[in-house]
Amino acid sequence: MNVETDRVVYFDNAATSWPKPPQVKIAMVKFLEQVGGSPGRSGHRMSIAASRLIGDARDALAQLFNVDDPSRIAFTKNSTEALNIATLGWLQPGDHVITTSLEHNSVMRPLRFLEEQGRIELTVVPCSSTTGGLDPDDVRRVLRPKTRLLAIVHASNVIGTLLPICEIGAIGHAVGAPLLVDASQTAGAYPIDVEALGIDMLAFTGHKSLLGPTGTGGLYVREGLDLLPLMRGGTGSRSELEVQPDFMPDKYESGTLNAVGIAGLGAGVEFLLDQGVQQVYQHEQALVGRFLAGAAQLPHLIVYGSQDLGQGIGVVSFNIAGMSPSRVGLMLDQGFGIMTRIGLHCAPAAHHTIGTFPNGTVRFGFSYYNTLSEVDYALQALAKIIEEGTDDGAG
Ligand SMILES: Cc1ncc(COP(=O)(O)O)c(C=O)c1O
Repeated sequence: MNVETDRVVYFDNAATSWPKPPQVKIAMVKFLEQVGGSPGRSGHRMSIAASRLIGDARDALAQLFNVDDPSRIAFTKNSTEALNIATLGWLQPGDHVITTSLEHNSVMRPLRFLEEQGRIELTVVPCSSTTGGLDPDDVRRVLRPKTRLLAIVHASNVIGTLLPICEIGAIGHAVGAPLLVDASQTAGAYPIDVEALGIDMLAFTGHKSLLGPTGTGGLYVREGLDLLPLMRGGTGSRSELEVQPDFMPDKYESGTLNAVGIAGLGAGVEFLLDQGVQQVYQHEQALVGRFLAGAAQLPHLIVYGSQDLGQGIGVVSFNIAGMSPSRVGLMLDQGFGIMTRIGLHCAPAAHHTIGTFPNGTVRFGFSYYNTLSEVDYALQALAKIIEEGTDDGAG
């Protein structure tokens, strides 16, 4: 194997994005050096400055998702926490929930937990084994009068397929069931308008396409929806009460917030507002298009999911026939400096859907910072791996 390890090509943005815009680092260092104080707690200028930065980040997110009232967005440490608040905080004994076979475990595990406890009934609607698509009629067929939540991933973290959340939301709304969207992969990578799409709850994570640091994320909750908080504690508000404030966002923001992280997240979102998410999407679609065109020329390379541009986001999964994904991932890293994610990507149901369970796939997750020449380089690397990978069956 031709070893070229001094070059680093980062294609693991679906796990966490890298690099971040320089503004993100600057905002975080500035927070540590110049802001310092505890947000929402003390009355002095350093604390007020910290609160202001958090408010600015909330406002920027509200603008990005077209949320009228920024206070309807609560900060969490990631989308997993947001999804747990949304599911565990909303569902009542006897409720029926509809979800899909493309979900990440951050949706599936809280729902399976509630199901195992006998608290909810869960219907998992299968997505297409070839395109990953979801037919809204399949959702309509399983709707019940007792359906109280539709929890749907916006785009698969395995094959990138976008699901028709707007149509699905309308189906649930007919029986008064809110739509919870897991936007972990789409927030910052694909335009999201909670009003136009009829989204009642939106869970997002800060460290992927929103370009912020790890430890940041949030949950948007439409006015009128009341969820039980997961945690209770100090919020800096209504301190005379020994019970949790009942208003957003404080209700879900117990304990001192990750202020330095949120300052970085705010800078990432400002960067995206400046560039335009549509621009980011177009760039990533160009990368996907280049990859798919090159992959079609490579023998033994199997790409999963829809091959139609515009049907998905900048996430692609593939295998080389006869080689395990872990071996391909290791060769891409050690031989070519290409960082990918291999295996099941915390979404076993998605791999059952596309027929790649239990070994999984190799995943490329592109970002705004990746280039066409990096994709070409990766295609050349894959061609070499296929050529040299004959010892375990390929080639
Ligand atoms: C679709 C989807 N949902 C949820 C998550 C969980 O994100 P986090 O680990 O930031 O909570 C991820 C991240 O891998 C994801 O891709």
